[in-house]
Amino acid sequence: MSALALLHASQLVTLAAAKKPRVGKELSELGIIRDGGILIRDGKIDIVGPSGEVEKKAKDAEIVDLGGRVVLPGFVDAHTHLVFGGNRLDDFERRARGETYEQIAKAGGGIWSTVEKTRAASEDDLFAAAKKRVDWFLKCGTTTIEAKSGYGLALEDELKILRVIQRLNKETSLEVVPTFLGAHAVPREMSPEKYVDLVINEMLPRLAKEKLAEFCDVFCERGYFDIEQSRKILTAAKKLGLKLRGHVDQLTNSGGAKLMAELGATTADHLEKTDEQGIAALRSANVQPVLLPGSVYALGLKEYPRVRQMIEDGLAIVLATDFNPGSSPTPSMPMILSLACTQMKMSPSEAISAATINGAYSVNRGDKIGSLEAGKIANVAVFDCEDYRELAYWFGMPPTHSVYLRGGRV
Ligand code: NIG
Ligand code: FE
Repeated sequence: MSALALLHASQLVTLAAAKKPRVGKELSELGIIRDGGILIRDGKIDIVGPSGEVEKKAKDAEIVDLGGRVVLPGFVDAHTHLVFGGNRLDDFERRARGETYEQIAKAGGGIWSTVEKTRAASEDDLFAAAKKRVDWFLKCGTTTIEAKSGYGLALEDELKILRVIQRLNKETSLEVVPTFLGAHAVPREMSPEKYVDLVINEMLPRLAKEKLAEFCDVFCERGYFDIEQSRKILTAAKKLGLKLRGHVDQLTNSGGAKLMAELGATTADHLEKTDEQGIAALRSANVQPVLLPGSVYALGLKEYPRVRQMIEDGLAIVLATDFNPGSSPTPSMPMILSLACTQMKMSPSEAISAATINGAYSVNRGDKIGSLEAGKIANVAVFDCEDYRELAYWFGMPPTHSVYLRGGRV
């Protein structure tokens, strides 16, 4: 039996609470223990408390003195597009010249250009590229991510991406929650009707049989998949036992949030253009909004989602990176905390709840990760600061000191 005691955190941010995601004022209650410590046994949290008390129970443990640093549960990044070939540097330069995301996509850039590079890459190449990115996430203090397929848009290529995700789970220490996003764009070689058919009749049954995904997602947007097509795909996925997420109301308000509520989705993501009715629909169906300020920032847009209203209405908000080569090339949750506070007017404590415990619930793992409590998996991030608010305050560098996954230092 291996035991490890992490002692003398200036602030041990536990986020311990009731067994449900946080809403309203609860988002600001971080459950901080000053001069806190954690005792870890066999990868799980055994005791959390003041360092003096933890130390008394840690006679058999290896002791690490954290030297007055801030300690958090590792970030749970609930929305990423981790596996892809190439990059989108040309899009990036075009945007700097003033072209929009949609204009660039029409002119041969956008998601489709990444699909071509992803199709051309072997499973090993994609794995090697994704493995490097896994290290980036760990360096930013993230210990669990959700990752979507969606740059294959053909049966074998979508399966290839999902297998890379499966292999990352076996061969790296980061936990990766797999989502099928076959409906990310319509491939050039096929009509939208035929492609929706392929997703429903070939892709979904196959990946469900091989248990390659826990969630199904769609990009419900003008020029991608409309409400009707999105409803068809997500309904088929639900019948196969997959849980639902959705890219909705990002560039236009198409009623996507209402659709996610109607279908009982776990999350509705983006929501930059969602109006009051959309927010009310999410509330009544208990759908968690996943807000992605990195993509607003990186696309050079000005309109962030209405987070204050969402909090006031009692939604269990989540913050995530949307890591992808096109609209949000960042793996950094601390950067997202900064954007949440400066651009969306969240408080640092609200942002931290949204980036940890609420993210954990949104990937169906709220009982195992996302807070520092006895019985949970010992995923712990240590930061080189004394006050948790510094995580959102300093920006442009990851303030990470060390990261523990299942009690092992990475
Ligand atoms: O979440 N909106 C659709 N999907 C991604 C962008 C993907 C890409 O541009 O490659 C997003 O922003
Ligand atoms: Fe996305």
